[in-house]
Amino acid sequence: MADEIRLLNFVVPNNPKSPTMKVTVVGAGNVGATCANVLATREVANEVVLLDIKDGFAEGKALDIWETAPINLYDTRTVGATNDYVKTAGSDVVVITSGLPRKPGMTRDDLIATNSGIVKSVTESILQHSPDAIIIVVSNPLDVMTYCAYLTAGKDSRKVMGMAGILDTARYRAFLAEALDCSPKDIQAVLMGGHGDTMVPLPRYTTVGGIPVTELIEADKLEAIVQRTKKGGGEIVNLLGTSAWYAPGAAAAQMVEAIVRDQKRIFPVCAWLTGEYGINDLYIGVPVKLGKNGIEEIIELDLNEDEKAMLVESEKAVRGVAEVLDRMNEK
Ligand code: NAI
Ligand code: 2OP
Repeated sequence: MADEIRLLNFVVPNNPKSPTMKVTVVGAGNVGATCANVLATREVANEVVLLDIKDGFAEGKALDIWETAPINLYDTRTVGATNDYVKTAGSDVVVITSGLPRKPGMTRDDLIATNSGIVKSVTESILQHSPDAIIIVVSNPLDVMTYCAYLTAGKDSRKVMGMAGILDTARYRAFLAEALDCSPKDIQAVLMGGHGDTMVPLPRYTTVGGIPVTELIEADKLEAIVQRTKKGGGEIVNLLGTSAWYAPGAAAAQMVEAIVRDQKRIFPVCAWLTGEYGINDLYIGVPVKLGKNGIEEIIELDLNEDEKAMLVESEKAVRGVAEVLDRMNEK
């Protein structure tokens, strides 16, 4: 018996986790470059590849980020690539940020057609070189671009997901911290539904240092914060003339970190539902547990009637967009 144990100890490595981690971020624009910068600075992976279709663009951003390493004191290598997927080979996690924002005169269907074409071709290229990669989609319209990546990848839905809920709850928590004059670190919150005006913030599940938020703020102020959160993306667009990147990039990096470090963190994530919350065959935001296997659990909250009704409205909105993609795919 003792010999068997010694033999087992000999053949089983001490640390069965992969010793190196590689992450690719596709799209070296505002969100992609920010995400790569956060991943590098936090040393989430050993290598971060930034890929873009524009000649030299990803190389330039990756080099600029790498040149911060001696200042910010980290070792992660950032590598740029112009549409060269060979450099992405063996990635553990891939973040897809490539896509256009909606421009004046562009219909919703035009945006879906353009961005789904981009997400589809990127997903195919990624999987040729990293068949086991976990995919995190950021491109908009988020819930349906995640669905597009899932249809293209033909992989386990736990390994294809979208980023929106961490961003939307971050906005909600930031607004609450301002209103309560307290640290955003102490605010815990969850939010569900699609990434858009129909999202469902859940004050009943919001706490400040463990205290229900409803005990700390007047109902009308809380409602104003919920409404501001729902329009949080638009607020930034009105100020900047383009969409946000610091918070979206950091949010995507937080999902990568949870997976790469197998943290088992609980986040709102755009996930494929097969009956949870009474929703079938749709990508939409729900609380999940994120770890090395991707989405390791979908957490089902006990929603009240009002919350359920809001989720049904959000489901209808997301399904309407998903059906546009389905019709395009049928042609
Ligand atoms: P951006 O325009 O700064 O960057 C997009 C990059 O994608 C560009 O550099 C472009 O050259 C690249 N690209 C286009 N087609 C490509 C292809 N086939 N292969 C590789 N690269 C390609 O845009 P930004 O601000 O970084 O936003 C990216 C996307 O993320 C947009 O769709 C935006 O709406 C979405 N977004 C989503 C958020 C969310 O919460 N899910 C939050 C913020 C933005
Ligand atoms: C945002 O919420 C537009 O999805 C983008 O900032």
